[in-house]
Amino acid sequence: MSDNKTNTPLVEIKNLKKYFDINTGMFTSKPLKAVDDVSFTINKGETLGLVGESGCGKSTVGRTILQLYKPTAGEVIYDGKLLKSKADIAEYRKKSTMVFQDPYSSLNPRMTVSDIIAEPLDIHKMYKNEEERKEKVLQLLSKVGLNSEHAARYAHEFSGGQRQRIGIARALAINPEFIVCDEPVSALDVSIQAQVINMFSEFQQELGLTYLFIAHDLLVVRHISNRIAVMYLGKLVELTDAATIYEHPLHPYSKALMSAVPLPDPKIARLNNRIPLSGDIPSPLNAPSGCPFRTRCEYACERCAEEMPEFREVEKGHFVACHRVEEIN
Ligand SMILES: Nc1ncnc2c1ncn2[C@@H]1O[C@H](COP(=O)(O)OP(=O)(O)OP(=O)(O)O)[C@@H](O)[C@H]1O
Ligand code: SF4
Ligand SMILES: [Mg+2]
Repeated sequence: MSDNKTNTPLVEIKNLKKYFDINTGMFTSKPLKAVDDVSFTINKGETLGLVGESGCGKSTVGRTILQLYKPTAGEVIYDGKLLKSKADIAEYRKKSTMVFQDPYSSLNPRMTVSDIIAEPLDIHKMYKNEEERKEKVLQLLSKVGLNSEHAARYAHEFSGGQRQRIGIARALAINPEFIVCDEPVSALDVSIQAQVINMFSEFQQELGLTYLFIAHDLLVVRHISNRIAVMYLGKLVELTDAATIYEHPLHPYSKALMSAVPLPDPKIARLNNRIPLSGDIPSPLNAPSGCPFRTRCEYACERCAEEMPEFREVEKGHFVACHRVEEIN
């Protein structure tokens, strides 16, 4: 977890929406609400963990924040400045980047490691001559624990952990301030995951980086995150600091997600009133009325089918979207 974190916002998103038009017939289409009215702030030097089941919209949040997708609605504010014009976005691209889940599919197999790492430098014209480009690549390789002999090789010659190091070196090439880490260790063996997560932590300390760290495995985000946001069907259902989400989750969905995580302390486990998560996540094309979680929630009542719960601050810094949060906790 970052000790460098400040209380100054670096990335603020307000009422962010990303809808995809899905063809439902020859002349008909329907919006798939992948991200639906999401707001949060990430402070400078902080790691915000973003968790939720497959398909809930985590990657779409990451890509929309980075402006790789144009938001359907809502605002992205970076370092106090609303991103609006093409020039704003071009400037933002020099400071923000992404590390992807599968290091193999995100790295071009026909490019050498050197070219993979230097590509962002090429795009942003960040060197004066070939000599400097080479020098920068070697520095980046050594930063992530690889060496000059690796530069001329191809990504497929490396192990999963090494490929993710190449992915990290590539992300660091532009000297970013903000990195969206989209399940960067999910494809790796458990034994390697901790090493790679430690590497993210070390770079954060050393370079003062700010992360949005996406995972569906809660154990992965726990140690690296200052705060954690839980997402369900395109919406945030809970947001609070990392320890609280483990020890004292308030939303029924977060409680259920926690049930899947082995907690070392059985007292905390009991306090959490652990409940298994049953049923499938509904399709975002046919989301339930009212509360998106109501089809799987054991506390659902009539109001839950009629009215969308507001995402509100129920304790200091602890946000929950549930009509019955006070009653059931
Ligand atoms: N480019 C796209 N076009 C159409 N639908 C999309 C597109 N990208 C994502 N979706 C849909 O949006 C929803 C959210 O997808 P997203 O990839 O953001 O979820 P996720 O939480 O990252 O899932 P995972 O854990 O599997 O990576 C899904 O229903 C997905 O099918
Ligand atoms: S609003 Fe209702 S359905 Fe939704 S989580 Fe709360 S109790 Fe469950
Ligand atoms: Mg994803």
